[in-house]
Amino acid sequence: METQIIPVDTDTPEPQLKAVCDVLREGGVIAFPTETVYGLGGDALNPDAVTKIYAVKGRPADNPLIVHIHSRLQLTRLVETVPVVAEKLIERFWPGPLTLLFKKQKIVPDVTTAGLDTVAVRMPSHPVALRLLRQSDVLIAAPSANSSGKPSPTTAQHVYADLSSKIPFIIDGGRCDVGLESTILDVSGASPVLLRPGGVTREQIEETIGPITLDPSLEAKEMGSLKPKAPGMKYKHYSPHATVELVEEQHSSEEKILSLCQGYQREGLRVMVIAKKRYGVSVTDYTMYPDETELAHDLFFYFRKADDEKMDRILITDVSEKGMGYSVLNRIKKAAKHIY
Ligand code: TXA
Ligand code: MG
Repeated sequence: METQIIPVDTDTPEPQLKAVCDVLREGGVIAFPTETVYGLGGDALNPDAVTKIYAVKGRPADNPLIVHIHSRLQLTRLVETVPVVAEKLIERFWPGPLTLLFKKQKIVPDVTTAGLDTVAVRMPSHPVALRLLRQSDVLIAAPSANSSGKPSPTTAQHVYADLSSKIPFIIDGGRCDVGLESTILDVSGASPVLLRPGGVTREQIEETIGPITLDPSLEAKEMGSLKPKAPGMKYKHYSPHATVELVEEQHSSEEKILSLCQGYQREGLRVMVIAKKRYGVSVTDYTMYPDETELAHDLFFYFRKADDEKMDRILITDVSEKGMGYSVLNRIKKAAKHIY
């Protein structure tokens, strides 16, 4: 199958999106931009379409999908009840990078939720995603549009690199704003639980509804030692070929960075350093980020760039745990081989 990249913005005339909408309505699978990362979308209520998504991505069948909607009315079709805390969060953060987990209605097929009795729902804020949802009138189930195990795509070209010839269309809406996936909060139980930190920060959520619980796997010292409630969080993800190493903020010092880089140099390795400060080291690629929001925006982009440029090591340092730092550290730790 030939994969066509279609540039779309808010001014693109409707007929140009028509072919993509037809594919969605007929049970096919396409890729589209959201404000977080690119999604691989199909009709969430059509089990055949959802089965295709798993096949295209090479995704394990026990890992449920997020259903994307454009209106509050669509939510009521999918879920049993909308608790008060969810109402408050929807009011403040939808459309936007927050996914909420609800008890599902029967209309949602088992393949979409991997047999769970809950469904993950989000209303994206990307204007092209919203256009696609409205124009197709399809509730779109969409995981990130990478092959399973690769970093999530933040450009149409990333999607093309992973999935060309497997899907008919990739809508190109430019680079994703947030750069990391949505935050996932479980509001299906007695008290809200954070399953995946992402584009909306924990602090923003707590400002809105008060203290929340963290899924224990998020706090585990060793990644993978506790079973996370979001099945997807148990997989090693986001990994470039290069070995990712994290120097935690409290251990980052001129001395530490220098000694690590000297070691790489002796081995003749190609090294990318991603730091907030200018350390006096000489490596193949030195990238500075001004703050954690910018690092989140660029992290997966750097991972893919490192692969293109055949880096052996990616050394990341100075990341604070606050705000978006907490989300970006979650992704870095899942990719990292060594944490200092
Ligand atoms: O920003 C995002 O959320 C992007 C864009 C495309 O919207 N999507 C995304 O999807 O990141 P994906 O499939 O890569 O990650 C979805 C995560 C997985 O870890 C999955 O296990 C979890 O959500 N999830 C989905 N439904 C769930 C459910 N019913 N219970 C627990 N976890 C669920
Ligand atoms: Mg993903």
